Amino acid sequence: MNKPESLQENIRSSLTETRLFPPHADFAAKARIDARKLSELRDEAAADHVAFWARLAHEELDWQQPFSIALDDAEAPNYRWFTDGALNVSYNCIDRHLKTHADKLAIISEGEPGDVSTYTFQQLHDEVCKLANALKALGVAKGDRVVIYLPMAPQAVIAMQACARIGATHSVVFGGFSAQSLRDRIEGANAKAVITADGGTRGGHVVELKKAVDEALASGCQSVAKVVVYRRTGKPVEWTAGRDVWWHEITANTSAECEPEWVNAEHPLFLLYTSGSTGKPKGIQHSSGGYLLGAHITSKWIFDLHDSDVFWCTADVGWVTGHTYVAYGPLSNGATIVMYEGGPMTPDAGRFWKICQDHGVTIFYTAPTAIRALAKMGEQIPARYDLSRLRLLGSVGEPINPEAWMWYHRVIGHEKLPIVDTWWQTETGAILMSPLPGATATKPGSCTQPLPGIFAEIVDEAGNIIEGNDAGGYLVITKPWPSMLRTVYDDNERYLSTYWSQFGDPLAARRENKPFLYVAGDSAHRDKDGYYWILGRMDDVLKVAGHRLGTAEVESALVAHPRVAEAAVVGRPHEIKGEGIVAFVICKGERPVDDDAVKLSRELREFVSKSMGPIAKPDEIRFTDQLPKTRSGKIMRRLLRSVAKGEAITQDISTLENPGIVEQLLGRA
Ligand code: WT7
Repeated sequence: MNKPESLQENIRSSLTETRLFPPHADFAAKARIDARKLSELRDEAAADHVAFWARLAHEELDWQQPFSIALDDAEAPNYRWFTDGALNVSYNCIDRHLKTHADKLAIISEGEPGDVSTYTFQQLHDEVCKLANALKALGVAKGDRVVIYLPMAPQAVIAMQACARIGATHSVVFGGFSAQSLRDRIEGANAKAVITADGGTRGGHVVELKKAVDEALASGCQSVAKVVVYRRTGKPVEWTAGRDVWWHEITANTSAECEPEWVNAEHPLFLLYTSGSTGKPKGIQHSSGGYLLGAHITSKWIFDLHDSDVFWCTADVGWVTGHTYVAYGPLSNGATIVMYEGGPMTPDAGRFWKICQDHGVTIFYTAPTAIRALAKMGEQIPARYDLSRLRLLGSVGEPINPEAWMWYHRVIGHEKLPIVDTWWQTETGAILMSPLPGATATKPGSCTQPLPGIFAEIVDEAGNIIEGNDAGGYLVITKPWPSMLRTVYDDNERYLSTYWSQFGDPLAARRENKPFLYVAGDSAHRDKDGYYWILGRMDDVLKVAGHRLGTAEVESALVAHPRVAEAAVVGRPHEIKGEGIVAFVICKGERPVDDDAVKLSRELREFVSKSMGPIAKPDEIRFTDQLPKTRSGKIMRRLLRSVAKGEAITQDISTLENPGIVEQLLGRA
């Protein structure tokens, strides 16, 4: 456990939290899954988890060619699900609802200035088909990678669904990422096309997406033949003839019918780059059939989707939450989704609640960092809006502290709405642990229990499963599940080493027919009732406002600056963001002091923001002559975390190569 201080609060709440909130009888009475149904599902999955998932896949998805093989584990832990089946994800999300729900709203979208646009399922179908046909005409074919770099507008969902329709694999890059991060991801995926916009709006200013694409493509990125540009802001953009095409022009005289490309269940639906503890972000690869099943069934069970629901997940499509619970899961269930392109504080902290009111949102799913930020603005703000249509609240992305949970429960939920605290990861594709709102009694701060069909355990440092309740250690998943990642794109070695090698060689395990443990990277505590409390990451991954960042990535951004020789980055608890970034920097030459230090610190923070994107901007830079290192040359991060937090140094510093540096780090020398 390498983050003791940030774990303290979570450990404390997991040990002392005794409040229990059982589901309300009237919610349970109408819920898709009540307590009895949940226990039936658990029994069914426990008896044969492969058969359980196969039944759901047959019943819940539309297959062009039904599968006969449920799980293929010949190459485990590269598992494959429903391997001989064929389907199309966009058909499942759109076409299958047209017979009964063609005129139902699929998307309600609001821009920051207040402009609203809507798409029925029929209109969504038509837009998706037009873009799909246009992409084909541009030469994008099944198996090609397409990078999507768009604002949080309906076009993002249309672009993803259009790729799915023709069997192209999309890789969405968050619009807040810099040109350089964009270039890395385009090159990593060897993308054939990029879909972007002339700009997006956030917090009152324009984000120049097309400009970033131009910058990214200016050097390298040879694979990109076409750039499709959606006109959103109308502001002039640079144009590269032959490469750049307008979305509205290529779709203008295009058919609104496009036969779906039926793909194998294992066909890669998307790549999504995410940070790890070392090196460059990795391209997490997801499948079509297994992924869709996870997205579909978790949306249905956890968000209890009914025909009249209006579902708003506030996540950007640039993150996995925006894939599974904006672009795919709810639509696969025929639900209406809300999208909002803009900042939560624009024009004021009432924006989210106004959107809930104006569009009759019934299910609201957001991140703890947003809840904390809005809570800070006071209860009188949400009180101004009619939130009476809300019936279910959700949280995702990082541990939710009990205080934030209680505020959500009391002020937004009026003490009667269920809260689902959902634990999952980019890698898991869909939620793995969560309460079911009509069945599970909740505890503030706990994601409760694994879903039916998901088998979690806590293991010790050696990988031994800790039996019984009241266990703390590494969180592992012991059986494969359909929506799990398939590999790290172009780097299966990294897939094996990151997720499957912590407790032994996975290939040896395969030979010896031993069980595999998927190592999530989180530490967790299972309490006396068998409830899970996620304590935090075990690796050098930070969660800044719910966004995942590797300390190594921020460090390499810093050392790219001409004055920086070495850098070490750590997280520090932050009231709203959950974690903030503190960087310890050694400069070439003299250590900067006074004015120079102030100026350089500002410059470095901007430098990181420019090279990675504003979410990676350090809160604080501290200059030092040396980093605290053990005799084997390892940076002692634990010590740096204590220093960053301003707390007493309790760890043993006698093993340091340079114990004298501690005084300087503390500002005493
Ligand atoms: C990491 C995954 C889940 C999709 C969005 C983030 C942390 C996520 C919770 C939760 C406690 C959580 C974990 C996990 N996390 N949800 N409900 N309670 N921690 O996906 O960027 O891949 O990050 O987020 O540390 O490993 P991600």
